[in-house]
Order: sequence, then structure tokens, then C-alpha cells
Amino acid sequence: MQFVKVTVSPTTTRAVRRVERSLNWALRRADAALERLHLGGKKAPYDDLRYEFFGGPGEGLRTKHYDKSLRLLWKAEEHAPYLGFRDCSSSENQRRELGQLSLSEEEQVQLARMSSAEFKALLDREYSLREKQALVALLSAIGHGEAYAWLVSAQLLAAVKSTGARAALSLQVLEEAKHFLVLRELVRAFDVPIPRLSAPEYVLLERVLKAQGLEKLFGMNVVVEGIALGLFGMLSHLPGMEILRLFHLDESRHSALPSNYFREFPLSAQARKSPRKRLGRLGMILPALALIPTLEDDMAELGIDAFDFGGAVVRKIAQLAERNGFDLPIPTQALLERTNDLLNAYCAIARPGHEQKRFIEQETTRGERELSIEGEVFLGKRAREDAGRIQTPGRNPSLVATSRTTVSTDA
Ligand SMILES: [Fe+2]
Ligand SMILES: [Fe+2]
Repeated sequence: MQFVKVTVSPTTTRAVRRVERSLNWALRRADAALERLHLGGKKAPYDDLRYEFFGGPGEGLRTKHYDKSLRLLWKAEEHAPYLGFRDCSSSENQRRELGQLSLSEEEQVQLARMSSAEFKALLDREYSLREKQALVALLSAIGHGEAYAWLVSAQLLAAVKSTGARAALSLQVLEEAKHFLVLRELVRAFDVPIPRLSAPEYVLLERVLKAQGLEKLFGMNVVVEGIALGLFGMLSHLPGMEILRLFHLDESRHSALPSNYFREFPLSAQARKSPRKRLGRLGMILPALALIPTLEDDMAELGIDAFDFGGAVVRKIAQLAERNGFDLPIPTQALLERTNDLLNAYCAIARPGHEQKRFIEQETTRGERELSIEGEVFLGKRAREDAGRIQTPGRNPSLVATSRTTVSTDA
């Protein structure tokens, strides 16, 4: 390459460099002094000398979350063409069309793009008006949660250490944005009024958004993602809801983020055991419990007992909290037993002829793949093997299946 050089004055450029070096020295010293005095100073947790964020490269988190999320990144145009998104690149569209050339005529018809009118016709065919309202109530509950997940993950991006963890959170921000937008279109396709946040969900999500620092990881990646995984896993087998399998897969990766992060940057004993923080965590679980009765009628419409769902989700949240070292004010088993008592006490009043039930041992997630993914996320490899040896009565054995999943929390 031949460049036509521009003539400059070496004396001037040398002087500029000297002045810049002095200015930089003064600036950095002043900022360091201000930082020591807690009066401000440098704000970005970024080390420009090492070309790295504070905390180091964090390669493990990068490969487990950033690389993997990009590998598994899905496009709404391909998987839910009826929602009107145009997010596939031209090469992705070409690849898909080429792949369809090898299919039989019948298979091509099946794979043909369903228009939004056809999708709405499918919803009308498969669901009564009341069933559509029930599905919209559940889907919009997650949809409002996605808006908060988008906000919280963007804030967590500034709270985590290392380049790898920031890369992981950046992809979570992107995925939450996609979840919010795609789910909103899916909900709108039902053509029924969309409910607002219920009071317990509003309290839960506001508490998560207001949680300090890494406590947001507990609120979002443990509690909220735990509920979202339960709902996606419960609904993804329904007609027209197949896209929710992809949401379920993304959320399972997000649920695995705290344990992978704490492997590189362990939560301090003070942060784990602080009575204030443990109470704060319980304060995020309680609204999730209060949410259960508000979902009862809508879930019943879809053949699901909201208390089975609630028991299963609280069990998964407790397992995930324990796995990540987020201590609670009472031990996990005691929390589960008290939850079971509470759910039974409510049902004893609200349901004539109610008989005691082990709600915390129920499973409402459907589909082998979803159950396998959740087994990996909630129990982890070792606990899953233990659970495989000691079967809990009433628990679906598929929950502890050890088949390969795409979550790889221990990878
Ligand atoms: Fe999400
Ligand atoms: Fe998520």
C-alpha cells in the first residue's frame, strides 16, 4: 500500500506528545487521589493499560455465555414468521431456502411460512376466548417481566467484573430485548386485552430492579428467571407456542450465569450471610408466593393447578439459590416445608374438601428436553446424580434425567 505522506513539523508533534504525557500523568494522579478520598475520580471500571475490564479476561464466562449465546442466537423471522419480524440476514434467508429444497413437497408445505392471519386463525381454532384470555394473562405476566429483565441485565452489565462477564451480560441484554419484543407481538396476536402487572408481580420486579449490586443476580437470574423457566416449560408444548422452547433455552442459560460467575468471583462470606441481604432475598421470594393465587383461575383454564406450579417453582428457586450460595434466613428444606404448609393452609380455606398435598414435589414443566435442561440448571451435575439415586416421591423422574443438554452449566 502506498500512502501519500503529509508533511508535519516533528518539533510540534514531539511537543504535543510531551504535553499530552504530562497532562495524562496529572489527570490520572488527580483521579486516583479523588478516588482514595471517595470524592469521585475515574468512573469506568476499565483498565486501558491492559486493554481489559477490571477483573481480568474472564474467558470461562465468555465462552460459556457470550460465545454460546451467539451460537444459539435465534431469529424471530425464522422461528415465528407470523409475528412480522425481519431480523434474518440475507445469507440466513438463503440458507433456509436452500435447506427447504431438499425437502419433499409435503414437508415444504408444512414448513411454509405461516402468515400472521393464519397464525391468528390457528389460535382461534385451538383456543376458546376464555382460554386465549388465560394464555395472554400468563404470557403477558412473563412479558412484563422481560421488560424488567432487560433493564436489570443492563444495570448488571455495569456491576460485574471481568471482560468475559461483561460480554456474557451484553448478550443477556440483547436476548432480553428480543424476548420483550417477540413476546409482545406473540401476545398481541391473540387479539384480547392485555392485563397490567399484578400487584405481587409489580412488587417483585420493582424489588429486583432496586436490589443492590449482585443481589440483582439473585432477584433476576434466580427468582424471576426461575418463574419464567417454569412458565415457558409449562406452555411450550401448546399449539402455536413452540417458539417458547427457544425462550426456555435462553432463560436456562441466564439462570446458569450466577453459578458460573461466582466460580470466578466467589460471593464473599459477608455478602452470602449478611442478615440484611438474606432478608432482602426472602423479600423477593415472598411476592413470588403471593403471585400464585392470582394465577389460579387462568392456569385452571389451561388444566394446570397454580399451586402445583407454585410449589415446583419455589423448589427450583430454592435449589438455584442454594447452588449459587445465596443464603436465605432459613435453610432450604425448612423454606420448602414452610412453603408447602402455607400453600396447603391456603387451599384448606379456598378449596372445599382439600386434602394435604406435597406441592413442592410437583412438576409442571412438560417436554423431555425442557425437563432435562431444568435438571441441569436447578440441580447441577452432582446433585442431579444424587437425586437420580434417591427419587423423591411424587417428583417426575424426567426432572433428574442426565441426557445431554445445551446448558452445560458445569462445562
Ligand atoms: Fe428473558
Ligand atoms: Fe433472561
